Amino acid sequence: MSIAAAVLMIAGCSSPKTDAEKFADDLLGRMTLREKLGQMSQFRPRSGVVTGPEGFSYDLETMIKAGEVGSILSLREQEYFEIYQRLAVDSSRLGIPILFAHDIIHGCKVIFPINLGSSCTWDVESVKQSARVAAVEASAMGLAWTFSPMCDISADPRWGRVSEGSGEDQYLAAKLSVAMVEGYQGDDLSDSTTILACVKHFAAYGAPEAGRDYNTVDMSERMFRDRYLPVYQAAIDAGAATVMSSFNDFDGIPASGNKWLLKTVLRDELGFDGFVVSDYDAVHEMVNHGVAADGADAARLALEAYLDMEMTSGDYINHGEQLVQDGVIPEKLIDELCRNILIVKYELGLFEDPFRYGGAERFARETYKPESIALARKIARESMVLLKNEGSVLPLKEGGKVAMIGPFISDARAMNGTWDGFSEAKRTVTIEQGMRARFPEGTLTFTRGCDAYSHIDGGVEAAVRAARAADVAVLTLGLPGNHSGETSSMTSVELPQAQKELLAAVKATGKPVVVLLVTGRPMALESVDELMDALLVVWHPGTAGGDALADLLSGDYSPSGHLTMSFPRCDGQIPIRYNYKSTGRPLTKEMDYTQSHKAKKNYQTCYLFTPNSPLYPFGYGLSYTQFSFTDLQVLDPEVAMGEDVRVKVRVTNVGEVPGTTVAQLYIRDKVASTTRPVRELKGFERVSLEPGASAEVLFTITAADMAFCREDMKFAQEPGEFGLWVGESCEAELEGKFIVKE
Ligand code: GLC
Repeated sequence: MSIAAAVLMIAGCSSPKTDAEKFADDLLGRMTLREKLGQMSQFRPRSGVVTGPEGFSYDLETMIKAGEVGSILSLREQEYFEIYQRLAVDSSRLGIPILFAHDIIHGCKVIFPINLGSSCTWDVESVKQSARVAAVEASAMGLAWTFSPMCDISADPRWGRVSEGSGEDQYLAAKLSVAMVEGYQGDDLSDSTTILACVKHFAAYGAPEAGRDYNTVDMSERMFRDRYLPVYQAAIDAGAATVMSSFNDFDGIPASGNKWLLKTVLRDELGFDGFVVSDYDAVHEMVNHGVAADGADAARLALEAYLDMEMTSGDYINHGEQLVQDGVIPEKLIDELCRNILIVKYELGLFEDPFRYGGAERFARETYKPESIALARKIARESMVLLKNEGSVLPLKEGGKVAMIGPFISDARAMNGTWDGFSEAKRTVTIEQGMRARFPEGTLTFTRGCDAYSHIDGGVEAAVRAARAADVAVLTLGLPGNHSGETSSMTSVELPQAQKELLAAVKATGKPVVVLLVTGRPMALESVDELMDALLVVWHPGTAGGDALADLLSGDYSPSGHLTMSFPRCDGQIPIRYNYKSTGRPLTKEMDYTQSHKAKKNYQTCYLFTPNSPLYPFGYGLSYTQFSFTDLQVLDPEVAMGEDVRVKVRVTNVGEVPGTTVAQLYIRDKVASTTRPVRELKGFERVSLEPGASAEVLFTITAADMAFCREDMKFAQEPGEFGLWVGESCEAELEGKFIVKE
């Protein structure tokens, strides 16, 4: 804040108006109430992506000419961006430009791995670069706003939208969400290659009961503030221009009508000063929630909750005037909300040049650039997580015969996953194409074996023959590209039965079996674990997925991905996360689960027949080489409140080939005013080393890193003893400690 602003504030005056505020106030003074409500309304074209029940039916072009369409989402025809913008600017009374938006969440034309995959790179800079590429392509298309980053953490792989987030941990998710905001928005929104970010879905959408999309979210305020709010807050602190309210109710009130969330927390507490858009039809859906009698009542609730723009239901434009005329909603409130939108449009430069985004020539020039595809290939490579490699069956031996088997070998959709932007299947490198490009002619065979969820006649027999004729069988198993993302909740995340049977039949040939897991979510694999000699999680790796996979299977590169969500043993463990609480009866001694049915009662928090631990834990990932972590030094073993704690460790590549690991630091607050997780991630760094080389990694734990929602509900640090661990997963064993004095 400038000195002048501070002086004015102390004198009780508001800070001097920015140019954007002056412009918005002048424009507001010339707008009719209906035009203001129009700016607060977002609609989709007939061709737009439908992600909810059809709202009210409308003629988009008529409404644009009437100045009643502030924003359009999901427009797919590139030429229509200029057509609709021309209509708004030339035919509506005030010529206010339209704000075009879409879900560009992991790329626009060049598709990067789904966000959960990219999060497994733990590579903040690469994620930022991918968002920058997406913004350059999206703005060339005509878009000025993306509904990303998704800041919803989740510990529940039954919920299909884990694919769109950055995993189960708020510290890592916050860093990656900030990187996306910075990549999309750059440092100048008026630059025609930067686009608005959108922090979604506010709030706690990733914690639906039973893992069922859109379902109720009910948690303590403390849990919300400790685990969920920090990710949204980090992205807002990074300057995100917009926020999207979520479908779910939170503490009994739907987010789109939840004044505590949208006003008290988001604006008054976090200082958010952009604008809030509802999710698709979410304002009107407050009728279904049972908190609004009808559309007018829903509009009232949303307006009173300070929701600036509503998506697709039309309740603002259809009922807003009557609400004001009846004295239910003051026009002053409409002015305040509409003003937030006009200010952002001004900051984008839309009033100065409504056609600054898009253009067929720019679109052709800016999309599918070789360097963008190279970045997508790098991130895809780094996103893949090697979870098992018995007998070093990977990388594949040069010249060996490989039977490629499975339903996703030639599936472009499986490469791109959900929200695949404006990608083109013909530009997507499938697994088959990537393998054929890298491996010698005659060394590969390709057999489907089964469909994703069903057998095919003779499929298993053909796969067994192919495996018998090869040195190694490589199976692409998992889930279809559109079976994660929205409305994709599942009651089981085990492999489909047909795939299990294919895997068992191929394993019975006695050949080494490599499984490539194509998926948008963690899967429960204990029941098939012994059938796999190697397991590489491929995710939905994007446009360059096939080439990236071949880079790893050939050994040209070593896998370096590390899990950002726990992989459960079985469905019954879900939700499952690494940062659990101790409880009063912590599990300190695993039972012999083969005998547990005879076991005396085990008064510890555990199951009768299953360990508590996941099959593969948060932070875990193998390489073709091995790393050691030594010489742990806590440089500040005793600090005062507010001081940093520095920790050093040496990482060494003790294997035979170059590789990259992710050094991770975890802490535990041993005694606090509330129960604290047994481990919390508070530092990470990718470390690339040649064989025999080593490097020192320095972590800095700040007071902010140690803050939590204390017993007094203040989010702050407390003095006390802390344990710390450093390694390459949440099960790191290299241990240290420090004390924070009063
Ligand atoms: C969808 C999604 C949201 C998306 C919006 C617009 O229903 O919940 O993530 O941004 O609608 O497509």
